[in-house]
Amino acid sequence: MGRHMLFKTSLHLARHTKDPAYLGKYRRTREFMVCIPSEALVDETDFFGIASGKNLDKFEETGLTPVKSEIIEAPPYIEECPIAIVCRARNLMPIGSHTLIIGEILSILADEDACGKDGIPDISLVRPLLYDSQKKTYYTIGEPAGKAFSSGMKFRRDVYRP
Ligand SMILES: Cc1cc2nc3c(=O)[nH]c(=O)nc-3n(C[C@H](O)[C@H](O)[C@H](O)COP(=O)(O)O)c2cc1C
Repeated sequence: MGRHMLFKTSLHLARHTKDPAYLGKYRRTREFMVCIPSEALVDETDFFGIASGKNLDKFEETGLTPVKSEIIEAPPYIEECPIAIVCRARNLMPIGSHTLIIGEILSILADEDACGKDGIPDISLVRPLLYDSQKKTYYTIGEPAGKAFSSGMKFRRDVYRP
């Protein structure tokens, strides 16, 4: 995957994951790991979002498995998640109570059965969770709605005909 790809997220100042003591060794490399849970992991994902690592071990509580990659010097990824994205923080932008993090994608680890025949992760196989913050509800992805860079072509008109 290309090095120019970017990932963005925002973290609240109070998060344990932002604590200098926790970040410690990752501060130097500025690497972080983004794991994409599938719909089957909805309860575990929610728990990771509502419990703090300050007080308990989220892996122990949910039974998910942290795996330290042998090839990259990044925080562990979650074995049960079909996709893990290794990023390096490029920009940190304070926005009110949160910090917007722009990360360069260094590599993508994908389960074989989350990839199509071309070896590229396929969203219909990954079945990632989507979150609606207004409804405080998780959704799964639906059917493909249309082909990008082509379905809009039906509106193309020749406006000048001499
Ligand atoms: C659905 C959901 C979405 C969340 N989104 C964010 C977010 O975008 N940024 C953030 O800082 N915290 C977010 N949180 C809250 C943190 O996940 C939560 O405070 C968690 O306990 C932090 O864990 P930690 O203390 O181990 O870092 C979200 C929580 C849930 C349940």
